[in-house]
Amino acid sequence: MPTKEASKSKDKNIIDSIMYTYSTSSNPHEEENRILKETINRLKEENERFKTSPLMVCEVKELFGKQSIIRIPNGNQFLVNISDGCDKIKSGDLVLVEQKNLTVIRKVPITRRFNIEKYVIIEKPTISWHDIGGLSNQVQEIKEVVELPLLKPELFKKVGITPPKGVLLYGEPGTGKTLLAKAVAASTNSTFIEIVGSELVQKFIGEGAKLVKEIFEFARKKAPAIVFIDELDALAAKRIEVGTSGEREVNRTFMQLLAELDGFKPLDNVKVIGATNRKDILDPAVIRPGRLDRLIYISIPNKESRKEIFKIHTKRMTFSKGINAESLITRMEGFSGAEIKAVCTEAGYFAIRSNRSHVTKEDFLKAIDKVKQEEKAEGQDHVEMFG
Ligand SMILES: Nc1ncnc2c1ncn2[C@@H]1O[C@H](COP(=O)(O)OP(=O)(O)OP(=O)(O)O)[C@@H](O)[C@H]1O
Ligand SMILES: [Mg+2]
Repeated sequence: MPTKEASKSKDKNIIDSIMYTYSTSSNPHEEENRILKETINRLKEENERFKTSPLMVCEVKELFGKQSIIRIPNGNQFLVNISDGCDKIKSGDLVLVEQKNLTVIRKVPITRRFNIEKYVIIEKPTISWHDIGGLSNQVQEIKEVVELPLLKPELFKKVGITPPKGVLLYGEPGTGKTLLAKAVAASTNSTFIEIVGSELVQKFIGEGAKLVKEIFEFARKKAPAIVFIDELDALAAKRIEVGTSGEREVNRTFMQLLAELDGFKPLDNVKVIGATNRKDILDPAVIRPGRLDRLIYISIPNKESRKEIFKIHTKRMTFSKGINAESLITRMEGFSGAEIKAVCTEAGYFAIRSNRSHVTKEDFLKAIDKVKQEEKAEGQDHVEMFG
């Protein structure tokens, strides 16, 4: 007969085992439930996020109490309300606005100044005047207009004249415009800030004008500085009508450029050099007196200049015997400086392919043919593209 004690302990065992099975079997369900609930909540929130429409980034132009004029990215301006929860804003701030009624919701916390160094090419070039073949008149002129005022401003004060603020280099591609600009930056130990017109209007839509402004501010800080604007025609082309928002945008950037050119003083230690292959389409406003009013034409090199350019680019090459530079140069009639350089590089490659370290006449002849073919093919492409 079981004692009372024994039966008690048996009951306890049973209860324990029930408790155990209960807790082991119920806990996973509870846990699962909790996880599912959390997941659903998270997905709901996520779903809400997907449903909210994005806010547009705009610039505050002017404030009128509880209202403000904002400029939306395509350039149009609106008078809109400012929501109550919005921090204090001032003109020039970037704000987020609701897309439908353009109410200003809040200020963009970062004061977005451009990190100029990220947008433009800044360097201290090491090109010397000796690296430029031919172009002696052009070198002379750029020295007078850019180098002299930077190095000897007092001379101009004494004589009582103001030097031009900038120059425009124009002419065929590959004739040494960039080279000249870099050489003058090097000779004056100036910071060389390069902007490319087409990039300015394509990459930084809505920001071009602002960027131009900040580039000039930056240039003044880094003075002496040379602001080199390549492909100026992309920015400063004559426009028959300013219709689309893209054109308005280019126009604004251009206006800012003119304002900057007008804004600094001729002896400010900042010089502007523009370059273009298409002077014919330039808006005359940019070459008006007081702006880029010195025009320097860079032509395709003549025979003498070709000789000098050829000499520069073959300086470190080893020639085999029997190379007549004169006859090679005659064959390169009509070549630009860049093409002459290409000939030298190609000739070097032909030598490398035949395991030689010296370059022969045949290498050069083949290279000249190759560059001529390429030029022809390019011309053909152009015809096919533009008719
Ligand atoms: N007069 C020159 N003397 C020596 N090298 C030259 C000369 N002209 C061009 N070159 C060579 O060709 C290269 C391209 O020249 P550069 O970039 O100055 O041409 P560009 O006139 O600015 O052309 P683009 O209008 O296409 O910008 C130079 O890096 C240089 O090696
Ligand atoms: Mg160039």
